[in-house]
Amino acid sequence: MIVGVLREARAGEHRVAATPATVEQIRGLGYEVVVDAGAGAAAGFTDGAYEAAGAAVGEAAAADVVLGVEAPSRAQLDAVRPEATVIALFAPAFDPVMVEELGRRPFTALSMDAVPRISRAQSMDVLSSMANIAGYRAVVEAAHEFGRFFTGQVTAAGKVPPAKVLVAGAGVAGLAAIGTAGSLGAVVRATDPRPEVADQVRSLGGEYLSIESPEVEVSTTGYAKEMGDDYKAREAELYAAQCRDADIVITTALIPGRPAPVLITADMVAAMKPGSVIVDMAAANGGNVVGTVKGEKTVTGNGVTILGYTDLAGRLPAQASQLYGTNLVNLLKLMTPGKDGRLVLDWDDPVQRSITVVRAGESAWPPPPVRVSAAPVPAAAAAAPAVESAVRKPVTAGRKFGAVSVAALALFLAAGFAPAALLPHVTVFVLAIVIGYYVIGHVHHALHTPLMSVTNAISGIIVVGSLLQIGQSSTAVTVLSFVAILLASINVFGGFAVTRRMLAMFNRS
Ligand code: NAI
Repeated sequence: MIVGVLREARAGEHRVAATPATVEQIRGLGYEVVVDAGAGAAAGFTDGAYEAAGAAVGEAAAADVVLGVEAPSRAQLDAVRPEATVIALFAPAFDPVMVEELGRRPFTALSMDAVPRISRAQSMDVLSSMANIAGYRAVVEAAHEFGRFFTGQVTAAGKVPPAKVLVAGAGVAGLAAIGTAGSLGAVVRATDPRPEVADQVRSLGGEYLSIESPEVEVSTTGYAKEMGDDYKAREAELYAAQCRDADIVITTALIPGRPAPVLITADMVAAMKPGSVIVDMAAANGGNVVGTVKGEKTVTGNGVTILGYTDLAGRLPAQASQLYGTNLVNLLKLMTPGKDGRLVLDWDDPVQRSITVVRAGESAWPPPPVRVSAAPVPAAAAAAPAVESAVRKPVTAGRKFGAVSVAALALFLAAGFAPAALLPHVTVFVLAIVIGYYVIGHVHHALHTPLMSVTNAISGIIVVGSLLQIGQSSTAVTVLSFVAILLASINVFGGFAVTRRMLAMFNRS
């Protein structure tokens, strides 16, 4: 089959659905690739670069699989063949006119913005990859407008205080903004109704501002719910105080399926210092800030700049195209099981079903919901591939008590019946388990890599000890030694493989 890469129809859209690097990956799946002339020009990719990667320059809309970033124009859709598959960001959840338009056509249309946010689909999650870029760019835009350093400095010409940045909402875009602002040297604070993000904020160097309210609870879906009046009142107090103090405010608050919650009122904006900057990332969805104009920069009477840009990811077109193109390659990998250049739509796969807007001319929108839940999974549903658990089920007090009772009974039996020589060993073993459980269980996530080194060292000691024991005495000791060597080796080689993978992530080539 031939994959076509469209030249984006909308003026101002600088991204492209494939880069020369992703063209090579698509060809590796057995496809031929055709690129519209000038498709990548706005993102800095010449036709020659695509040709060097093995693509031909021609009419992309006439291909078997047509790739775009935004929804193709009507003229482009008219050129698509009836049996073809078109993949782009159709925004079917927000654009019923487009859904209707696609429903009138005979081909299959898949929308990348409908990829469900489940772990299995992470590599195809375009909204996350674009939000990550947008969060970075929001800080760059804010820095550009701010006109002062982000980092504090002591110079011969005087002392410069660090900029204070407030980030509202610590999802994908918010965390990217926190990391970027922090690395520029700003003092960063962030808040979010999901308390589980506190650690992530801190790990990026930010301060998490918690809002004490009985409504606050760990999210079971990874998304925030609509909060009640008590939370909203306390939240408003916090934003009012923070806005008076902050130089930059970046708002990213989103509750799926609802208009963006309004967090920053006109009074709060009026209380900000002249020269302060607000980036309202939710502008396309109604905005988190009163006074935001979608797609525009506005300056208030008291000198506060409000940016309502909705194309933040597209302002880094080469980077955004590379990540979007990689998301598409991952989808094509999923849909090309034979790696033979033949696209197969698996209707039973929840990811492929979720993104299908039209299948061979038949409307398939809206798709059935994909359950993203941390709630305990019933046994029958546990087999369903769509179910992903975001948070582990907490151990109940009853189960803990049961486990301790069984362990105590085992210890009692061991003490009663084991030979006297074995008793000190059993005691040391049990104490090691208890101490190990508490020590390792409380190690901060950031320290898991050094912890892995320590466990590798322990595994090394186990291997040496077991090698000394193996074949020395009874069969039972030999078998146990063999099992110990096997398990310790898994830890050693597994640790080596993980470390190698992590190091490869920093390899420029
Ligand atoms: P996300 O769902 O990962 O994060 C949203 C966060 O907002 C969640 O952590 C949620 O708990 C939090 N939140 C909800 N209510 C809140 C409240 N009252 N106060 C503080 N936080 C609250 O979403 P993602 O992917 O990070 O996107 C964030 C926003 O950025 C969305 O509105 C998205 O449309 C927008 N966006 C804008 C772009 C642009 O060019 N302007 C580009 C990409 C995304």
